[in-house]
Amino acid sequence: MCSKLGSVIPLLLLLALSVSATADYVRPPPRKTLNFPWSPKPSSYPQQVHISLAGAKHMRITYVTSSKNSPSIVEYGTSPNNYTSTAQGKHTSYSYLLYASGNIHHTVIGPLADNTSYFYRCGGEGPEFQFKTPPSRFPITFAVAGDLGQTGWTKSTLDHIDQCKYDVHLLPGDLSYADYMQRRWDTFGELVQPLASSRPWMVTQGNHEKESIPFLKDSFVSYNSRWKMPYEESLSDSNLYYSFDVAGVHAVMLGSYTDYDENSDQYRWLKADLSKVDRAMTPWIIVLFHVPWYNSNEAHQGEGDDMMASIEPLLYAAGVDIAFAGHVHAYERTKRVFNGRSNRCGPVHITIGDGGNREGLAQKYKKPQPEWSVFREASFGHGELRIVNSTDAFWSWHRNDDDEPVRSDQVWLNSLMGSGCRAEKNHEMRKILMEP
Ligand SMILES: [Fe+2]
Repeated sequence: MCSKLGSVIPLLLLLALSVSATADYVRPPPRKTLNFPWSPKPSSYPQQVHISLAGAKHMRITYVTSSKNSPSIVEYGTSPNNYTSTAQGKHTSYSYLLYASGNIHHTVIGPLADNTSYFYRCGGEGPEFQFKTPPSRFPITFAVAGDLGQTGWTKSTLDHIDQCKYDVHLLPGDLSYADYMQRRWDTFGELVQPLASSRPWMVTQGNHEKESIPFLKDSFVSYNSRWKMPYEESLSDSNLYYSFDVAGVHAVMLGSYTDYDENSDQYRWLKADLSKVDRAMTPWIIVLFHVPWYNSNEAHQGEGDDMMASIEPLLYAAGVDIAFAGHVHAYERTKRVFNGRSNRCGPVHITIGDGGNREGLAQKYKKPQPEWSVFREASFGHGELRIVNSTDAFWSWHRNDDDEPVRSDQVWLNSLMGSGCRAEKNHEMRKILMEP
């Protein structure tokens, strides 16, 4: 008994200390936008390299050259400086008022082996890069961070993500905070290159990607040119919504600023996409979009209501496990929810718009905390989702505490596959997803 007490007392002390440390935590102010000193490079030098999944066993390599004559080729192989394969891609470019982009090259390589390191070179010159393909089965780890920007806090978040052994990065919108200043897209590409050239970055867009000017510029011109995602591979007609399978996960990326009503292309595509999911192959379904639906922060209240009214029944019927959003610059995790209340067969919603942008944190919360809200905190940070097998996953949120990643929220999640919900939903599924 005594020995048990002896071990319990230090544990209680530790708990008390950690609670008081959390209570005393002083939220840091925003940090300045980073400086990017001009470093001239040969015009054919590949820059802003990032990679993304492009259908089964394929990877899209994206890079920018100032030269308009550089080839869109990627040489690659499994040993350093020994390129056994070459792939030819295409390039695009865009102009925006007085700004003219370089050539933005998109080259798909593959078929690639799973869970394997590859070495590659872009455009026939420049440095060698390296990436690892994701595993074909569990476990798989995702890093998740939205609303990144390019400040001192962004750097801190990226450094922490770099320390985590992750397979795929998920970004629920608001990337560069270029906000019409197109040169900032280039500096953002430079900032994220070390991470985004070594693991696939799968992104969806936020309000800061719109950059529309009435009668002059359509929305998302820069975003669509630079961050091409596998929409064609997932039978979508728009880069603004798509899906992909990785290990045993079906991931769906939606557009909060694209039509989502029942007659919209996005809605029709989503319905078709979800109705094809084979839970034996992908027992987990996760969804990302920018504007949160379950948000008890004062910031952006109600902005996601219309999309939620239209799309939430589809996600519920399909048995989506987790929905990630950004936009609100803070962290919040809910219980499983549906229709505004906790519901054991709905998704867990996680707002993770705390990547580190220059606008700072959203610190005011609604009181009292809604019954569906489990954990909420206005701090910069990132999340890690480790899916262990078809039924169990470990989610953790890591606060940037004085530049140290401190695990502040963590929870084991069970997939809906392992619950009784799937059988219950079969009828609903058929009704909602299968009707014309
Ligand atoms: Fe946003």
